[in-house]
Amino acid sequence: MVLFDRWYRSDASLKDDPDDELVNLLKGERVGKALDLGCGQGRNTLYLASLGYEVVAIDKSRVAILQLMEHGKVLGFNIECETCSLLDFQFGEQFDLIVFSYVLHFILQRPEQISILYKIMDYTKTNGIVFIKVPLTEMMFESLCLKKGLLNRVFTHSNYDWEIIEDYVKLTGDKKDFEVNVFIARKVG
Ligand SMILES: C[S@@+](CC[C@H](N)C(=O)[O-])C[C@H]1O[C@@H](n2cnc3c(N)ncnc32)[C@H](O)[C@@H]1O
Repeated sequence: MVLFDRWYRSDASLKDDPDDELVNLLKGERVGKALDLGCGQGRNTLYLASLGYEVVAIDKSRVAILQLMEHGKVLGFNIECETCSLLDFQFGEQFDLIVFSYVLHFILQRPEQISILYKIMDYTKTNGIVFIKVPLTEMMFESLCLKKGLLNRVFTHSNYDWEIIEDYVKLTGDKKDFEVNVFIARKVG
């Protein structure tokens, strides 16, 4: 992932706060085991660790993972970090929370996007939560944007039952012209 390695290397400081929707969602939730897929420098991973979650964080960018390990060390968190592609990840356990923020549009084939979503569903514990944010607006050449409703359809037609907690489109960016789908679901069975 040359592009992301270069980008992270250009500035190792933690660039962003955790997602607001994640912060709001977790108020009152019991902590447990979390997975941050495509974690980048780990703004969400570090937030989850600060709440007491046991976090596994994976990203294809080795540079991002090294930076996350460094930030985690400074803050005294014990985070399980792995350099790995989302196309390959495998675990022997399920998670109470899976975070997948601003990553899905970088998976450039629709069937691969869908198969990652199915893996996410398999790796979620019953009563666990999936938190996804994905741009719907084309942001760069190397991105495959989703249409609103796709996440909902894939989850609703899976082998599991889901309570869709949130599914809306939010305008973000300086000019408020960038559409992002916020999708949060709980596995009920
Ligand atoms: C825009 S960043 C988002 C990082 C983080 N989720 C956040 O919200 O701050 C996208 C991240 O996805 C990672 N990524 C893209 N494709 C990937 C893949 N196939 N496997 C693993 N990570 C991937 C990139 O390395 C990058 O760190």
